[in-house]
Amino acid sequence: MSTKKEKVGIVGSGLIGRSWAMLFASVGYQVTVFDIVPQQVTDALKDIEVQLKTLEKDGLLRGTLNADQQFKCITGSTDLATAVKDAIFVQECVPESLDLKKKVFQNLDKVVDDKTILSSSTSTTVPSLFSEGLKHKSQVIVSHPVNPPYYVPLVEIVPAPWTKPEVAKKTREIMIEIGQEPVSLSRELEGFVLNRIQYTILNEVWRLLEGGIVDVQDVDKVISEGLGMRYAFLGSLETAHLNAEGMKSYIERYGDTIYKVSTTMGDIPKMTQSKAADSICNQLNSMVPIDKLQERRAWRDACLTRLALLKKEMNKTYKK
Ligand code: NAI
Repeated sequence: MSTKKEKVGIVGSGLIGRSWAMLFASVGYQVTVFDIVPQQVTDALKDIEVQLKTLEKDGLLRGTLNADQQFKCITGSTDLATAVKDAIFVQECVPESLDLKKKVFQNLDKVVDDKTILSSSTSTTVPSLFSEGLKHKSQVIVSHPVNPPYYVPLVEIVPAPWTKPEVAKKTREIMIEIGQEPVSLSRELEGFVLNRIQYTILNEVWRLLEGGIVDVQDVDKVISEGLGMRYAFLGSLETAHLNAEGMKSYIERYGDTIYKVSTTMGDIPKMTQSKAADSICNQLNSMVPIDKLQERRAWRDACLTRLALLKKEMNKTYKK
C-alpha cells in the first residue's frame, strides 16, 4: 500500500514551520518548505533530519513511516510559487506581524488555484485582518498550534466570516489525520479560545499578586501542583462533572458560590502600568535566571514528551 499523499506547502521555516513539516511528513504528505531566507531552508532541512533521527532513536517518532521515509517526504524551495504549486494545503508560519502576514497572503493569492487551503499559524491575529480583499479569501483559515506542536497536539481552527465551511471541515480532517487534536471555532474572535482562557488565568494570578495574597512561587504552584495535574487529562467542565454527582449537581452545589467569589475579582489588571510588575519579574528571575531559560525550556519539553506518552497510554485504558 502506498503511503504517499498529496502536496503540502510550508511558508516560513522557523520553529513552527519545521514542526508542521514534520507532522505532515509523519503520515506521508509531500511537504515543500519555503523561506524568504534561503539559508533558513537549508538549516531547516538539516535540523529536521536530526530531529527525526533522534525521535526515532528515542522511540518517539510519530506516524507509521520510519525517519528516513519521513525525511524523504520533505523538500526545500526558495521560490514561493514552486513551493505551493498544486498543494492541497499551505501552512503559513512567518513571524507574528500583521503587515507581514498581509503581504505573504497577497503573494499566495497570486499563485494558488481555487482548491488550495491557505492556513495561518498566527496565535493572535483574526483571519479577516489578513484575508480581506483577496481573490481566494474563502480558502483562508487559521490553524493555531501550541508550542511544541510535536508534543502538544491542540490546534485551534478559526474561520474568517467568508471562509467556506468545507475549508474548515477539510482542515479539521487533515489535522486529525496528522495526529493533532483540532478544536473548531464557529467564528473568529480575538484571542481565539486558548488565549482567552490563558489570559483569564493570568489576570486573576496578577490580581492575587498585586493584592499581596501569595507570592509568585506559590501562585504558580497552584497550577503546576494542583489544577494542572487534573487539567493535563480533563477539561474544566469534566473536572467539575466529576467533582460532584454530575454537572447538574455541581451547579446546584457550587454555582452560587462561584458567582459570589467571581464578583470579588476586580478589574482587568494593566500589566504595563502595574506597581507589582518589578517585584513579579524579580521573583521570576530568581526562580529561573534569564541565562537559564534555554535549560528550563529543554526540561519543559522533556516533561511534555513524557506526558504525551503517558496520555497516550492512559487514553487506551478508558473506553468511552
Ligand atoms: P520564527 O521567527 O521562528 O520563524 C519565522 C520564519 O519565517 C523565519 O525562518 C523567517 O526567515 C521566515 N520569514 C520571514 N518573512 C518571510 C516571508 N515573507 N516569507 C517566507 N518566510 C518568511 O517564528 P515561529 O516561532 O516559527 O512563528 C511562526 C508563526 O507561528 C507566528 O505567527 C507565531 O505567532 C505562530 N506561533 C508560534 C508559536 C511559538 O511558540 N513559537 C506557537 C503558536 C503559533
